[in-house]
Amino acid sequence: MTGSGRVFRVVQWATGAQGVEAIRAVLDRPDLELVGAKVYSPEKEGVDLGVLVGRDPVGVTATMDREALLVLGADCVAYMPRLTSVEEVCAILSSGANVVTTAFCFYPPALPPDDLARLVEACRVGGSSIHGTGLNPGNLSGVLPLALSGMSRRIERVTLQERADWSFYESTNITFENMRFGRPAAEVSEEASDFLRFNSGIFKEEVALLADALRAGIDEITTEVDLVEARRDHEIFGITLAAGTVAGQRWTWRGRRQGRPLVEIDALWTVGGEYPDHWPTPADGWTLTIEGDPSMQAHFLTLASYERNLPIAEHVRAASIATAMQAVNAIPDLCRAEPGIRTMADLPLIRSGMGFGFGPEPSR
Ligand SMILES: NC(=O)c1ccc[n+]([C@@H]2O[C@H](COP(=O)([O-])OP(=O)(O)OC[C@H]3O[C@@H](n4cnc5c(N)ncnc54)[C@H](OP(=O)(O)O)[C@@H]3O)[C@@H](O)[C@H]2O)c1
Repeated sequence: MTGSGRVFRVVQWATGAQGVEAIRAVLDRPDLELVGAKVYSPEKEGVDLGVLVGRDPVGVTATMDREALLVLGADCVAYMPRLTSVEEVCAILSSGANVVTTAFCFYPPALPPDDLARLVEACRVGGSSIHGTGLNPGNLSGVLPLALSGMSRRIERVTLQERADWSFYESTNITFENMRFGRPAAEVSEEASDFLRFNSGIFKEEVALLADALRAGIDEITTEVDLVEARRDHEIFGITLAAGTVAGQRWTWRGRRQGRPLVEIDALWTVGGEYPDHWPTPADGWTLTIEGDPSMQAHFLTLASYERNLPIAEHVRAASIATAMQAVNAIPDLCRAEPGIRTMADLPLIRSGMGFGFGPEPSR
């Protein structure tokens, strides 16, 4: 129970790397109750959700049947599939359930007007709200810059640089199918596939969110892509990334005002660990720089522990945990929010619901 005494009923939508972390968190939280989960994989149909995440049975099973989940009367759906659907999310919202998602809708005002109108209407019909969040897009490109901007007199440019090697990211469908690592360079561009256009779009949404929240008055958002081909073969989770195919993707999104870049997200992504000489060399993780009065910089890296010696796989999971927790921790505030689009710029600061786990639960 929270300070307000309410328990929110949650459906988990997709049980991949983020989804299993979300389920574990919901099971641990006294103010959240897991009432169902949508799965896409036939072998997960009917599996107990506790067992699915490596725990004791909890008596709630996974289902591929979307309609069965929509009539459960859940307070919130934690929507984390690999591929998203505005139609599906609108059906969830119209059913009366709120939606928190790590997958898209990070700043719906920047979506195509048709999509925005459908989301707004679905929220109106269901009396529900939608909130997109996570790590990046999410906290580091939305919440953190806004929090740090509270120390700014004036801002000239905000840049978030993400440096990541995806070799240990176990969601290989996202790495190889969606992002097209290991494919010829001609097959990787913003317009090369629906997913790459979509993926570019979610970072543009994030640029737009910051630009609007910080009054940047941008008139365009540009995308640049710089690809790097592998010099040798790499084996990644049993998949061969062949020499000569794409092993590095640098995507830079810039919100500009009269050509001047004001808000930037610069992603330096590799698979296989080869790093090109012509790219900048920030430390692994996320480096946020606010140039202004005063200028400031913060570096973020999440690990399983800074104190204990743990296997690399545990450290890699830390980013999935962080992503899923930002969403799960938002559920109570989202459920209490006024119906409609709720962004990182207008929900209250999301805090850890469990925290240290001692003391009375706060009321909000
Ligand atoms: N905002 C952020 O910081 C951030 C960070 C990481 C990931 N993400 C996003 O969060 C979402 C989940 O990521 P993840 O790492 O958990 O991915 P993942 O491990 O690849 O899992 C995604 C799940 O999607 C489901 N799926 C399979 N086929 C599908 C299809 N045709 N259409 C829709 N869903 C399908 C599967 O669910 P079942 O296994 O249940 O069948 C799969 O486990 C993705 O959209 C990802 O891009 C966001």
